[in-house]
Amino acid sequence: MDNTTNPGQRSSDQGTCALRGGNDLPSCSIVIFGASGDLTARKLIPALLNLFRHHCLPPRFNIVGCGRSPMDHDAFRRSLAEFRQQNQPDDDPTAWQKFAPRIFYQELRYDQPADYLVLAELLARLDREHGVAPNRVFYLAVPPSLYPLIGARIGEAGLAAATAEENSSQVPWSRIVVEKPFGHDLASAVELDRVLHNSFAERQIFRIDHYLAKETVQNILMLRFANAIFEPLWNRSYIDYVGILSGEKLGVEHRAGFYESAGVLRDMFQNHMMQLLALTAMEPPSRFEATQVQDEKVKVFRALKPLDSGDLAASLILGQYGPGTVAGRMVAGYRQEQAVAADSTTPTFAAMKLLIDNWRWRGVPFYLISGKRMPAKETRIVIQFKEVPHSMFRRETADTILANRLVLGIHPEEKISLSFQTKSPHSKECLQPVTMNFNYERRRNNRPGFDAYEMVLLDCIQGDHMLFWRQDGVELSWAFLDPILRTCEECTVAEKLLQFYPAGTPGPEAAHPWMKMLSDPE
Ligand code: BG6
Repeated sequence: MDNTTNPGQRSSDQGTCALRGGNDLPSCSIVIFGASGDLTARKLIPALLNLFRHHCLPPRFNIVGCGRSPMDHDAFRRSLAEFRQQNQPDDDPTAWQKFAPRIFYQELRYDQPADYLVLAELLARLDREHGVAPNRVFYLAVPPSLYPLIGARIGEAGLAAATAEENSSQVPWSRIVVEKPFGHDLASAVELDRVLHNSFAERQIFRIDHYLAKETVQNILMLRFANAIFEPLWNRSYIDYVGILSGEKLGVEHRAGFYESAGVLRDMFQNHMMQLLALTAMEPPSRFEATQVQDEKVKVFRALKPLDSGDLAASLILGQYGPGTVAGRMVAGYRQEQAVAADSTTPTFAAMKLLIDNWRWRGVPFYLISGKRMPAKETRIVIQFKEVPHSMFRRETADTILANRLVLGIHPEEKISLSFQTKSPHSKECLQPVTMNFNYERRRNNRPGFDAYEMVLLDCIQGDHMLFWRQDGVELSWAFLDPILRTCEECTVAEKLLQFYPAGTPGPEAAHPWMKMLSDPE
């Protein structure tokens, strides 16, 4: 497959897929809690600046950072500018000069109701002075333990109120954005939701999963449902197994405080891996709208066959990285990382074989693998088709003919590749496997791509829930993982299940056959 468009066919590139946002968006204020934190300077402000630079923010907007440190507006702007200079040197300083005056700061103690009233006054004053409508996005760039407190205080200050007709651009709206983890287990996820729902309706809550903002992840639905050729084969009759891999070279870095009590199952499986699974396995929604898409995803979660906790080892391999070599550099094992217990049994790798109990997928194994300190950073979905039912070439070839494999590459290459058999040139009957490759990156035609934070901020301002988790999905995902986590975390089981792998290798040896099944034939 090359990267050209058939001139006889209509292409939506020229018009309908133009950059989103901009003048059509209602004016609003984006309020960031945790303004002096790393996430704000490293991700949120650059994302907003980039959207501004591409005219994708509403023409009128205010950004208000809130944090515990005492600062005035100018000091906040200066601190952001300094961070930019040191970490993201500017190729376009004039954009920053135009953008910076729209940024403000409010000192705020998260537990103090009075401080939220001061914030409300500041927002109202800024609205009047800058002609901005009283629409609000509250972004919680704070540790998850603060979500319930801040959510409640925003509500008490009357800042969460939104009218029933939120979709109308005439009325003020208020939205809250939270990032994973959404709880530590099912009970805490339900409790967090209860507290947020005291102030916000479900349609006002935006739960981010940055995997959903990846172009190639969104492309899964387009590939499946905008083409007639895949869907008839997308089932147990033709698919042998499905593999979903998200491997990383990085170790736990500076996040051991969180990771020690999370491990790979909470950090990657409860959210990103489940979303990739749902997009790959779901039924076609009736319309490409958030509610319909979310409805189909939750049906997949409901159909997951619980793992047999009496025999977890048959469907779950857990690993933890030991010392090893990554990219030619010696690195410490997980237990030697700072703030990790010397006898920690936290898994940094998991390979899970699961089944979906429904008509389409009965009996087809889904292999989900994710781990830290693996040889490469690679994320992909592998659809392994069945072998041909009968090989008339058997006389001349080895016994098996390699079955077709479709790979949806998410990282490092954003691509779709399909491997199949062809006649080997100059031979009579010899087969040769080849790969057709579509590279998403090249297809972008130098259009500015949006990174995950840009995408989710824009969707939140637009009120589009497509790239976010809905609470029923969160709960079903936890409901599937909870019994597994409980069993894994019993000491004796944890010690028995956990296998060690040297950093820089593809997980514990027991998982190597599964890893091989998920390889990219290219
Ligand atoms: C985060 C996890 O959600 O996703 C990290 O907390 C992980 O541990 C990261 O490294 C992986 O994201 P990506 O986009 O780099 O694959």
